[in-house]
Amino acid sequence: MRFQGFAKPSRTALGVAIRRASHQLYDARPLVLNDPIAVPILGKRYRPALEEAAPSIHESFSVSMRAWLVVRNRLAEDNLAQAVRHGVRQYVLLGAGLDTFAHRNPHPGLQVFEVDHLATQQWKRELALSNGLPEPSCLHYVPVDFERQDLGQQLAIRSLDLAAPTVFAWLGVVPYLTHRAFRATLDLIARFPEGSGVIFDYALPRHALAPHELEARDALSARVQSIGEPFQLFVTREEIKLELTQFQRVEDLDARELNARYFANPTDQLNLVGRSANIAKAWR
Ligand SMILES: C[S@@+](CC[C@H](N)C(=O)[O-])C[C@H]1O[C@@H](n2cnc3c(N)ncnc32)[C@H](O)[C@@H]1O
Repeated sequence: MRFQGFAKPSRTALGVAIRRASHQLYDARPLVLNDPIAVPILGKRYRPALEEAAPSIHESFSVSMRAWLVVRNRLAEDNLAQAVRHGVRQYVLLGAGLDTFAHRNPHPGLQVFEVDHLATQQWKRELALSNGLPEPSCLHYVPVDFERQDLGQQLAIRSLDLAAPTVFAWLGVVPYLTHRAFRATLDLIARFPEGSGVIFDYALPRHALAPHELEARDALSARVQSIGEPFQLFVTREEIKLELTQFQRVEDLDARELNARYFANPTDQLNLVGRSANIAKAWR
């Protein structure tokens, strides 16, 4: 199924960026994701959207959605830091949206490759530059449509070393893909050498959700459909295990495990609820 989102910057990427910025402004310290670029990258243009989010910031849907969006970045960046200690020098953000990691990269020598639709990438570049954020020398933009283009070929053209250990973060993207594009991307990552890995979240199908989660899921599905970026792929935990058999070490974290790891601070109201939050980590 084709959809209209290609020609325009991703609205879902903007939604995620607004929640990441809200975390910096409204949540208790210590933050789960300390991102000093999250607010500046939005600039004056999206400041009203950030302010509009304020009144509902403590409502339960808003809290758990924000927790989900910040924890997946934090988990990816924690795993990246560990991989860098073991020699990784390439980080690929698949469906990067307005991710700010490259602008605050603390790892000397680490090259960052941002992959996204061209329209979203151009919008991000303009937004960053117009808000006083010059392009860091570690950052390589790789315009790719996972549904239509060869990701490996496009990364190689932008000087990614396909033979070097590489960490991939694929955050908030898999549910928007067809199974074919998901599988092709995993197959590419599985060809990278030992020490390489991928961190990605996925969405469980409706039948695997608790009854009280269905309303929120249906509302979210309708919302993303209405802005031209419909969900296409839902996967169970059992299916994910089968998809990742080419990897040596696989971990699949659910809300309970993520809460214990990242939301144990009793002064912090942030946490994940329900069963719809799942993040897989797979290493070569
Ligand atoms: C919900 S946003 C998440 C953005 C970012 N990873 C984050 O967490 O802030 C989904 C992103 O995936 C990108 N995306 C979706 N389908 C894609 C495709 N077929 N090819 C390339 N990028 C795609 C969108 O353009 C968008 O930037």
